[in-house]
Amino acid sequence: METVLSGIRSTGNLHLGNYLGAVQNFVKMQYDYNCYFFIADYHSLTTHPKPEDLHNSVRQVLVEYLAAGIDPEKSTLYIQSDVPEITELYLLLNMNAYLGELERTTSFKDKARQQPENVNAGLLTYPVLMAADIIIHKADKVPVGKDQEQNLEMARKFARRFNNMYSVEYFKEPQAFNFGKELIKIPGLDGSGKMGKSEGNGIYLADDEAVIRKKIMRALTDSGPIKPNSEMPEYIKNLFTIMEIVSTPDTVQFFKDKYASCEIRYGDLKKQLAEDVIKMLAPINKKIKEIDSDSQYLSKVAKMGAEKARESASKTLQEVREIIGFRKFW
Ligand code: TYM
Repeated sequence: METVLSGIRSTGNLHLGNYLGAVQNFVKMQYDYNCYFFIADYHSLTTHPKPEDLHNSVRQVLVEYLAAGIDPEKSTLYIQSDVPEITELYLLLNMNAYLGELERTTSFKDKARQQPENVNAGLLTYPVLMAADIIIHKADKVPVGKDQEQNLEMARKFARRFNNMYSVEYFKEPQAFNFGKELIKIPGLDGSGKMGKSEGNGIYLADDEAVIRKKIMRALTDSGPIKPNSEMPEYIKNLFTIMEIVSTPDTVQFFKDKYASCEIRYGDLKKQLAEDVIKMLAPINKKIKEIDSDSQYLSKVAKMGAEKARESASKTLQEVREIIGFRKFW
């Protein structure tokens, strides 16, 4: 059975991009694959969260993962920092990760630009920790959005390098995954770029209906096309990108035709989009509220996940130590 692993950083509530890029369709794989879903709380330290914020974010992501349909009995749902084996593998992989390649990573360059006062070594070695997350369970497939493609490429590189260095065929090369299709990028509502946790341009799974309507109605549009069949500006394309995922093909075609004939009313498009997003998120939103009030259940789930994840991780780590040449003298 193939192994699937999906991770989300604990830096705030899950947004529609996280859900569509790395959760929605993958919860369906729980019954056919050996699935790991985890909360990357070590990764969130790269932005120096306050202790309370860190704790609350981890809890929130756990709640939202469960509300999105992860079955903790079937899948292994765990918190990264509950599995210290990951940090040891990270240390070992760091010995074969080179400054030049880490500095060239797009996400490092972006972060260094965004937080010039805090360009820490954790940011630099972020892809190494991510590789450790993935290969510690020997994952075959890693559901991710487009933004993580390069990190997956690095994970393959580190896995390959380990095998070459020790002349073994030990680690597999994990593949970024989205059901054989292109990886997706859900755009933000502010007209440019991707929906992100820190960009303030997102729809969150925990948003109630009124908030979702308000956010979508405020998304950037204009007075509409003047010439038939004209090219769409980026911010209009973005609304269609979301619509193509959450609405029926008929609805999308209807508004595309209206656009082509210059009859489109963006107010109507946004109203429809808001209703379709609400329809998709309503059951999750309801479950978030239910699960959030059950701390006992959450602690049971986290403990069970930690135990299952550590079992797999410690087996890998023991074998890795052996391959590298750490053997006991006592
Ligand atoms: P993070 O927490 O930023 O995002 C979690 C997942 O959501 C996807 N995603 C998106 N997909 C489509 N459109 C968007 N606008 C969008 N925004 C986010 C991301 O691609 C990701 O799949 N480094 C990772 C967390 C991580 C990880 C891992 C993931 C740590 N270790 C190992 C997979 C495997 C991150 O920051 O994702």
